Amino acid sequence: MQSEEIRSRFLEFFKKRGHTIIPSASLVPENDSSVLFTTAGMHPLVPYILGEKHPGGKRVANVQKCVRTQDIDEVGDNTHDTFFEMLGNWSFGDYFKKEAIGFSYEFLTSKSEGLGLDPKRIYVTCFEGDENAPKDTESAEIWESIGIPKDRIYFLPAKNNWWQAGENGPCGPDTEVFYDLTKKGLGKMTKEEYLEADSKQEVVEIGNDVFMGYEKKNGVVVGKLKQQNVDFGGGFERLCMVSQGVTNVFATDLFQPIMAKINEFTTLADEKAKRIVADHIRTAVFMIGDGVIPSNTDAGYVLRRLLRRAVRFADKLEMKHDSLSWITETVIEKYGHIYKNLAEKKDEIKKEIDAEEQKFRKTLASGLKLFEKISEKNISGEEAFDLFSSHGFPLEVTLELAKEKGKTVDVAGFNKRFKEHQELSRKGAEQKFKGGLAGHSDKELQYHTATHLLNAALHAILGEHVMQKGSNITPDRLRFDFVHTTKMTPEEIKKVEDFVNEKITEKLLVSFEEMPIEKARELKAIGVFGDKYGELVKVYSIGSEKTGIVSMELCGGPHVTNTSELKGTFKIQKEEAVSAGVRRIKAVLE
Ligand code: GLY
Repeated sequence: MQSEEIRSRFLEFFKKRGHTIIPSASLVPENDSSVLFTTAGMHPLVPYILGEKHPGGKRVANVQKCVRTQDIDEVGDNTHDTFFEMLGNWSFGDYFKKEAIGFSYEFLTSKSEGLGLDPKRIYVTCFEGDENAPKDTESAEIWESIGIPKDRIYFLPAKNNWWQAGENGPCGPDTEVFYDLTKKGLGKMTKEEYLEADSKQEVVEIGNDVFMGYEKKNGVVVGKLKQQNVDFGGGFERLCMVSQGVTNVFATDLFQPIMAKINEFTTLADEKAKRIVADHIRTAVFMIGDGVIPSNTDAGYVLRRLLRRAVRFADKLEMKHDSLSWITETVIEKYGHIYKNLAEKKDEIKKEIDAEEQKFRKTLASGLKLFEKISEKNISGEEAFDLFSSHGFPLEVTLELAKEKGKTVDVAGFNKRFKEHQELSRKGAEQKFKGGLAGHSDKELQYHTATHLLNAALHAILGEHVMQKGSNITPDRLRFDFVHTTKMTPEEIKKVEDFVNEKITEKLLVSFEEMPIEKARELKAIGVFGDKYGELVKVYSIGSEKTGIVSMELCGGPHVTNTSELKGTFKIQKEEAVSAGVRRIKAVLE
């Protein structure tokens, strides 16, 4: 079964069972500064898990784009990739364990509606219980009742069967489904044998149902949520792998054209290097598609590291220097009809990847020369940092070069220097990437509402062509990307600032209403989110009939309730181009 069919079968299956299908949110979280990328389907849906009403109702399903780079060292094995799609079905305080497990099992095994996987190859794990939550015998009994024999169900501790996306936020025990990849079939296994098979990747996880009913603060479970939720997550690449009867994700139809393209550029047999190039370029394409640009901080730095590492492995494979941009094209051919933004931005994405390769090549030779000199002995943090700051070597590249020469690198020393180098107020990219989901701080709420005012101001002053292309908020500033072809003049900037500040002093009401998407269109609400939430959407208004409505925008919230809550004066700090026809504003309330 090809990937396209698996994707559509999943959505069809859950649509039939009362779920509203919602599109993937961006890889770059909007209005959440605690993570650099969406790392799980849960990120964009946290407000609804916490009890806010979702316009699509209590059951939704989606395919969410995700990036996880903490597993970067494992890329090249059979099942890890830095970008992946997550199939998700969600219950926001609606169905719970019985239906969720039933749905998962039916989707995985049904030949007519699902993937038709072999039930005899399925193993299941459940939470064994601890001080936070009891042993999940209920899930085990449900599995048994639908046909998974008791001796294929294992109880494991929180390390395996408690799911969370960070130190803060919703979490809960989960039940995980594993699939046997061996030719012969593993048959009956004791718990020890099962754990051994897991460590050898003879069985791999293909999905989990998280029973999200708890909340963590600073790494500690602090209590139960208002409602019991279900978050099923199925790793799409892995599901393609088992459905297609292959034993690694790079052999699925998702990666095959990319691997074939790489083979056009090399005659060498280094399979791991090929997988790394394929993975990193695919991830880079999706990141750039969602507005990330290579840089030395935050998300841009993660992208830079991936691209530079890809260059290194392409060199190992003795590929031609412009081959990465050809691989880019193949990735877009594979995904562009599903993720239209990739097809639309094809030239821009190719240009970015090419430019980053050229940039790295300018310093690569001198960096390698320096490396040869210093790698007579082990490499100090200062030297690794010098390779980074003067020659653009991300730490991974230095580590890999050192490993090839049997030398070590003082990683802690590097990190210390690197941290100092990052702007003082910023958390380092690594740090933040591993961090959890924070709540929305007061300042973030203010910036969120300020973003709506800014959007309205740009429409009023520059014209109706101004379409939002991206937004990102931290407690320190807002960032807003929009369609506009020319640099804003100082007068225009001043007018926009004045517009926003005026609305702040006018103490305007901020409120929302849920309505059918058609009505939102009729009211000429700004449709930033397209039909992201299906039929029923939330529209935030600033102002009232009495004062005049200055902004009407489709948005999930949350916001302040009155513009007078915006503390300080709105100031545009920077206005610059991000790509052809797209401008970026960074602004503060100070
Ligand atoms: N369902 C949780 C996850 O794996 O993302």
